[in-house]
Amino acid sequence: MSLLAKQITIAVLSFFLLSALLVVGYVESKKRMAGHKEEIIISKDNEGCVECHSQAGNARSAVAQWKESRHAVKGVGCLECHGAEATDIDQFEHYKKRIATIVSPKDCSKCHKKEFTEFQRSHHAQAGKIIGSLDNVLAEVVEGNNRGNAAAVSGCWQCHGSKVEFLRNGDGSILKDKNGIPVIDPKTWPNTGIGRINPDGSLGSCAACHNRHYFSVAQAREPDDCGKCHMGPDHPQYEIYRESKHGINFMAHKDEMNLDAKPWVVGKDYFSAPTCASCHMSATPNQDVTHDVGERISWTLRPPVSEKIDAKDLKAGKDTVPWQERRSNMQDVCHQCHSKQYVSDFYAQYDNLVTLYNEKFGIPATRLYKKLRSTGLITADVNFDDEIEWTYFYLWHHEGRRARMGASMMGPDYTQWHGMYEVAHNFYTKFLPEVRHLIKKGKEEGKAEEAAQVQEMLDEIMQSDNHKWIQGNMDPEEKAARKKALLEFKKRYTQ
Ligand code: HEC
Ligand code: HEC
Ligand code: HEC
Ligand code: HEC
Ligand code: HEC
Ligand code: HEC
Ligand code: HEC
Ligand code: HEC
Repeated sequence: MSLLAKQITIAVLSFFLLSALLVVGYVESKKRMAGHKEEIIISKDNEGCVECHSQAGNARSAVAQWKESRHAVKGVGCLECHGAEATDIDQFEHYKKRIATIVSPKDCSKCHKKEFTEFQRSHHAQAGKIIGSLDNVLAEVVEGNNRGNAAAVSGCWQCHGSKVEFLRNGDGSILKDKNGIPVIDPKTWPNTGIGRINPDGSLGSCAACHNRHYFSVAQAREPDDCGKCHMGPDHPQYEIYRESKHGINFMAHKDEMNLDAKPWVVGKDYFSAPTCASCHMSATPNQDVTHDVGERISWTLRPPVSEKIDAKDLKAGKDTVPWQERRSNMQDVCHQCHSKQYVSDFYAQYDNLVTLYNEKFGIPATRLYKKLRSTGLITADVNFDDEIEWTYFYLWHHEGRRARMGASMMGPDYTQWHGMYEVAHNFYTKFLPEVRHLIKKGKEEGKAEEAAQVQEMLDEIMQSDNHKWIQGNMDPEEKAARKKALLEFKKRYTQ
């Protein structure tokens, strides 16, 4: 072989070798990319939607977010959710396809039956039915006026849910815009309240927690997700969580939380801290995910006086999960990170705080308040016209709830300074003086008998063990023990 021929052979061989290496490399990198990001499936039916809605001005973020979702890689496209039947009240013709804007839990239930069933039976799904509650009087009457209920629309209903309705023509038919799209009553839409009442009769909005169009579990596991609604002066669960050791650890170790793992089992896929979802919804080695957030709760901390969460159902003769079972469901979550004793001692602290609030403040204040109404010392048919109604409302609805909720989720500042301290301050320096004032006023206005009845109840309460300290009637031993403790405390600053 001539030198030239040798050189040509080497060059050709090198070329093939290099090409082969390049091809192998390309295939490998392609495989890795596929492992990292799965292919999106756009079905024939959905091509039009995706293409047109990718253009500026056409709500294009819907497409961009959908492309990031699990739905996109499983071929669940626009029409799988927005597709509608001719009989649906909210359907319209949209570029030759029949669709609806509203996607209700019933629409999701086509593929997610378990989540749907659990959610429908939960307290969450019932949250739209707040009409008639005391808070509702606040939004519609006290804060609002008779030209509509703007305060409820932009406030209450954004958390609780609206009853979605359409604007109507004179003949009762649904009003359509120039593109033939049914016009949803702006009083009731947009809305992703947790108990939204949908035109198809289903309750709630899955997008209350699973923001469209990502529909991601990782996002729903974040405490911020629940924080849209579970915050503020009357139910500060978000703030309580953030100040608790659990919230602190979550923030410090978020990177190790594996938030997008599937499944996401506490103590197995993550250890650092529980989020709201971990305790109330997510899987443990012994429990599946639940979409009924009441399944792990034993008390209700919402009313003026707390009772066990099954009490109402039992009174109504309804079948229900006993509170003990719900409590052990929750404790099963705790046990993945804490010892049995640690958890049962925590529950003893929590129960004691709820009982203290109930017995010392919740029950007496409620008895006095009801007596004032039944004796006619305040009006029984109009709410929030008497000052004491506001005082009483603060006591249980804001301060008393904060104390109980703080204790349930390890937020000591909410239990004490935003909670029991405020309750006591209110009870002794506002509520009781207002009761005494109403008794005096009653006597002056010729309601001596009624005033005497309230006075009798007040005396009984004030002489009880819980309140006798205020007249200086503390038991001698307790008095002596307190004096000793005070002296010892003072010594700390004089040594
Ligand atoms: C040729 C363009 C085009 C195609 C194809 C198209 N859309 Fe639209 N769509 C629009 C435009 C434009 C709007 C109005 C956006 C606005 O109001 O700003 C709209 C509005 C919507 C709305 C909101 C309606 C409302 O006002 O409440 C939904 C939901 C929707 N499209 C879904 C779909 C689905 C599902 C498909 C596929 C079956 C689809 N679109 C196909 C252009 C298109
Ligand atoms: C998994 C179900 C699901 C899929 C898939 C889906 N959507 Fe939606 N979409 C929803 C939900 C839920 C809403 C909120 C409506 C509600 O609250 O009932 C919504 C709302 C919308 C709106 C109105 C939102 C706004 O902010 O104005 C548009 C437009 C829309 N979708 C377009 C699309 C398009 C285009 C696709 C396909 C790329 C798509 N959707 C795929 C569930 C879905
Ligand atoms: C046509 C069937 C279908 C419909 C309708 C549908 N989904 Fe899905 N959904 C799926 C499939 C398939 C998956 C992927 C499951 C998987 O990853 O294995 C999924 C996954 C999910 C997930 C998990 C996402 C993740 O990050 O792992 C959520 C949350 C979800 N869907 C919510 C909804 C909601 C809310 C609706 C209604 C607005 C809805 N889906 C409507 C089929 C559907
Ligand atoms: C920021 C969101 C938000 C707003 C705004 C809001 N709520 Fe609530 N509401 C909640 C949450 C969360 C709970 C449950 C608290 C708990 O369980 O600790 C609740 C509880 C209630 C309850 C007790 C339900 C029961 O079963 O005991 C009533 C009644 C109520 N709200 C009515 C209203 C009314 C009326 C308004 C407007 C004046 C309103 N809420 C405004 C989030 C909200
Ligand atoms: C209160 C908030 C909330 C609401 C409302 C909600 N979800 Fe979820 N969902 C979650 C959380 C949190 C998870 C993640 C649970 C976990 O840790 O695996 C989840 C998980 C899921 C999953 C994945 C299930 C799995 O086992 O992997 C699906 C599917 C789903 N939700 C569908 C729905 C549907 C459909 C609705 C409406 C009927 C709905 N969700 C309403 C919070 C919610
Ligand atoms: C869109 C608002 C909203 C979001 C988001 C929300 N909730 Fe709620 N939640 C409510 C309302 C309103 C109630 C009170 C319902 C009622 O009693 O009528 C409630 C009640 C509850 C209850 C008491 C249930 C019972 O049976 O007494 C728990 C526990 C709860 N939510 C946990 C969560 C968790 C955990 C998340 C996040 C994964 C979450 N919520 C997200 C509005 C919301
Ligand atoms: C460490 C677990 C844990 C975490 C984290 C947690 N909770 Fe709770 N939550 C509890 C326990 C325990 C109770 C009281 C249960 C009982 O009464 O038996 C409770 C009670 C509640 C209640 C019921 C209040 C009522 O009115 O009856 C709501 C609502 C609630 N939590 C929401 C949340 C939200 C929202 C978050 C996150 C911001 C959260 N929780 C984080 C364990 C937790
Ligand atoms: C994923 C693990 C995990 C779960 C689940 C969990 N915790 Fe914790 N918990 C922690 C960590 C971590 C700390 C902080 C430990 C420290 O102080 O060093 C903590 C702290 C606590 C504290 C001490 C608070 C303080 O201020 O010192 C209590 C009480 C507590 N948890 C109770 C519970 C209860 C009750 C449950 C179930 C409702 C629960 N935990 C669920 C991880 C968890």
